[in-house]
Amino acid sequence: MPEHPRRSGARGSDGSGRRRHSSPLRVSVRDACEADLDQIAAIWNHEALWTDSTTDTEPRDEATQREWLARHPEPYPAIVAVAGKHVVGYGSLSPYRPKPAFAQTVEDSVYIEGGHRGAGLGGLILAELVRRAIAADHHSIMARITSRNTASLRLHERHGFRTVGVERQTAFKLGRWHDVTIMQRRLDARARTSNAH
Ligand SMILES: CC(C)(COP(=O)(O)OP(=O)(O)OC[C@H]1O[C@@H](n2cnc3c(N)ncnc32)[C@H](O)[C@@H]1OP(=O)(O)O)[C@@H](O)C(=O)NCCC(=O)NCCS
Repeated sequence: MPEHPRRSGARGSDGSGRRRHSSPLRVSVRDACEADLDQIAAIWNHEALWTDSTTDTEPRDEATQREWLARHPEPYPAIVAVAGKHVVGYGSLSPYRPKPAFAQTVEDSVYIEGGHRGAGLGGLILAELVRRAIAADHHSIMARITSRNTASLRLHERHGFRTVGVERQTAFKLGRWHDVTIMQRRLDARARTSNAH
């Protein structure tokens, strides 16, 4: 997999969108492996415990992380963006529903380590997940995004996802109700060629 120069920590951690000067990172994207699991858990556990970027609330221990990886062979890959051996972000595709009829509809996850956000890494991972989904002949990718998560909404919009619904106050986390925006990118032949979603 080729390496991509990316600027580290380019956006303020307050989500303000202000760009900071920083040094470039050489980042590559590859399949996740067991050696990555501690770093993936560190990224995930912070979001699960302390932020509303995910509606999940449970941190993952070592055993849970191993189970997570085992649930992600092709055609539901787990991938990491790495700078050397350091995991700066990860992403995955999962079945959208645990029913055979939904086997070709997948849901994506993308998580970038704090301090490396706003530098294009989310885009790098999501583009690779879309490429893998097309290669695996999936039909749609879905994303379920808490509606205040402007970075994720923007990221998905930039990669061809369109909002297909909003669940009003379906998730309660960190003392408040959250709306959940559902976005979809269709991958069928017509949508691929005409860019109609
Ligand atoms: C959401 C997330 C994956 C985006 O990844 P990223 O590397 O920070 O985003 P990118 O640099 O690739 O930017 C993607 C787009 O979002 C925009 N964006 C990024 N951060 C933003 C922010 N805080 N506010 C508004 N827009 C933002 C970028 O400008 C870019 O849009 P553009 O191409 O029109 O300029 C990352 O911020 C993250 O891991 N957040 C915490 C976990 C999370 O929310 N995961 C998604 C759960 S659904």
